[in-house]
Order: sequence, then structure tokens, then C-alpha cells
Amino acid sequence: MARHVIAPVDEMPPGTRKFLEIDGRPIAVFNIKGEYFGLMNRCPHQGAALCEGPLIGLAQSKDPGEIEYTKLGEIIRCPWHGWEFDIRTGQSYCDPRRFRVKAYPAHVEPGASVVKGPYVAETIPVKVESDYVVVEL
Ligand code: FES
Repeated sequence: MARHVIAPVDEMPPGTRKFLEIDGRPIAVFNIKGEYFGLMNRCPHQGAALCEGPLIGLAQSKDPGEIEYTKLGEIIRCPWHGWEFDIRTGQSYCDPRRFRVKAYPAHVEPGASVVKGPYVAETIPVKVESDYVVVEL
């Protein structure tokens, strides 16, 4: 699995999302309360740009007249017909057995491990031979 740098952490504060195309695939990366998640930005229903929909919570009810909201800001609602998906897993709440959005792992890595600076100094190979320093030009 190839790694792709998305953005510096300070450009993606909690509650934000970023859209990209990686290897021809539309991807959205979300920062949900400091955790990062990637989703395919294509709704499995009719192909809308799923991740451009609103972030909502999950409404559940144990008894008639009682509604509990959980997962606030963790569910994406498709902007075309309102299907809802869990950003953490891609699971559909319309028909979980048939529909799922591909989820991609996203996380933070130290900058030094993923980004090389653009400037490179000219280097010259140097060897030590019998107590003499030798420079090869
Ligand atoms: S295209 Fe997403 S719900 Fe229809």
C-alpha cells in the first residue's frame, strides 16, 4: 500500500475535510475530533460526490418517542438522496449488507519521515585511506 502525503496537520483542523484524486480515485480525508479517516468520494447509490454532503450524527431509538443522537459529526449524508455512511468504516445505514463506501486508513506521521525538502546541496564522496583524507572530484 503506497503512502500519499495529504496536507500538513495544521492545515486540517478538527471538523475539516480535504478532497483529492489519488491514482485516479476521488478521495476525501476527514479530521474527526483529531482522528483522520479517508473515504472514497463516490456514493455507491448513484455516484454522487458523497463527501460533499453534511456531517451529521446517528439518530437511534430504543422506544417510541425517544431519539438518541450518537456519533455526532461522524456520519456523512449524501447530498443527492440522503443515504448515510459512517466515516470511520464506510458502513451504510441504509442497507449495511449491500452498500459500503471504501474506507482508507489515514494517520499522522512525522514530517521528516514523509517529506523531503526541495533543496539539495551538491555532495562529494569522501573516503579515509591510511590516515589521509581523500576527496574524489
Ligand atoms: S447518489 Fe448518494 S444517495 Fe443517491
